[in-house]
Amino acid sequence: MENFSFVNPVKIIFGKDTIKSLSKEIPAGSKVLITYGGGSIKHNGVYDQVIKALSAFDFYEFSGIEANPHYETCMKAVELIKEKNIDYVLAVGGGSVIDATKFIVAAACFKGDDPWDILSKQARIERALPFGTVLTISATGSEMNSGAVITKAETHDKLAFGSSKLYPKFSILDPEVTYSLPLKQVSNGVVDAFVHVIEQYVTYPSQAMIQDKFAEAVLVTLITEGPKALETPRDYDVRANLMWASTWALNGWIGCGVPEDWATHRIGHELTALYGLDHAQTLAIVLPGVLSVLKDQKADKILQLGEMVFGIYNNMSKDERIDETIRAIIHFFEEMQLKTRLSDYGLGQEAVDAVSNRIKERGWKLGEKENITADVVKEILTLRM
Ligand code: NZQ
Ligand code: ZN
Repeated sequence: MENFSFVNPVKIIFGKDTIKSLSKEIPAGSKVLITYGGGSIKHNGVYDQVIKALSAFDFYEFSGIEANPHYETCMKAVELIKEKNIDYVLAVGGGSVIDATKFIVAAACFKGDDPWDILSKQARIERALPFGTVLTISATGSEMNSGAVITKAETHDKLAFGSSKLYPKFSILDPEVTYSLPLKQVSNGVVDAFVHVIEQYVTYPSQAMIQDKFAEAVLVTLITEGPKALETPRDYDVRANLMWASTWALNGWIGCGVPEDWATHRIGHELTALYGLDHAQTLAIVLPGVLSVLKDQKADKILQLGEMVFGIYNNMSKDERIDETIRAIIHFFEEMQLKTRLSDYGLGQEAVDAVSNRIKERGWKLGEKENITADVVKEILTLRM
């Protein structure tokens, strides 16, 4: 096991009818900005619960945060914060709203010339406004981590950043609020969480048994409960298990002391930035390609995944078991109703070239061994045409 240090200070409030408790979590006298997205919270009762809980506070609203949130939108919220002297932010939504809020609370306190440097130059975040979240979709884990992904619409750059200053003070997870999700977003969330675990688990063995067993538990939960959420969307325990699994998929715990990959995500972000695919759609395309091209490097962990999660351990050869495991992953994505090839989304050679050129321009070498160059990205995406 590699050395590590671990802290996760986020207070989780989990369960039915818990949104009302947010009034106790925000310091009395705070001037609050509520951030949210395109309006789903106004149709499913979440907005009303939040407004009721904030009745003792002076608050403002900032709506219209889009999926794959834009830097340009976030900067409008930063202006509002400065104008109204806001000192606490409450994100009500999914990964997009929470990520946007992380950027907003950092940019509002940023002393440098250009807040985009937080993303493009990974400028250090010295201070950020405090914020809490009310999660409305289980997917990213943003509710219990300190990272975020923001897109500059002007240049189609989708970049990640993070800071220990950006953990939410609290996150309220009421599984019932996810009943109103369109099934497509349920699928997206399950596949995103699944790939988060894979990014931290399918690398090379590091004898980290606790992390491995925990990762396998999260994966088994996702593949068991994910399809059920599509069949019986109002099953509370299914939603609760998915919500908690997605949070644990990316709250830092399973990444302790193990190598991490993240190539699938970095390649996927380029596909979203250039062609507007949903985050999870890009992952469903790219992951099978990464595993196929890197199958020698990742062999031991693919075999472990096959055996512990998909029950693939019969007397086939190792190569056959690896291929069978990659097929099982594709089958799971299809069961979750996500398409897994570029051509399914109307993309072809031009996308392969454009994405690999961008990786080249950025000078990135991805993956746990930093050996996924632009040429390897081309090979990966060519397999997924
Ligand atoms: O905008 P509204 O109207 O609220 O609708 C949203 C949005 O259209 C809708 N929705 C959310 N909760 C709902 C609901 N509709 C009905 N009922 C509900 N309860 O769902 C749509 C998608 O929401 P979004 O927040 O975009 O989804 P998700 O949580 O999947 O977030 C995706 C973003 O997170 C980033 C992605 O790149 C993408 O930008 N990620 C963030 C990570 C992190 N911070 O750790 C890690 C991830 O890998 C990922 O990159
Ligand atoms: Zn993701």
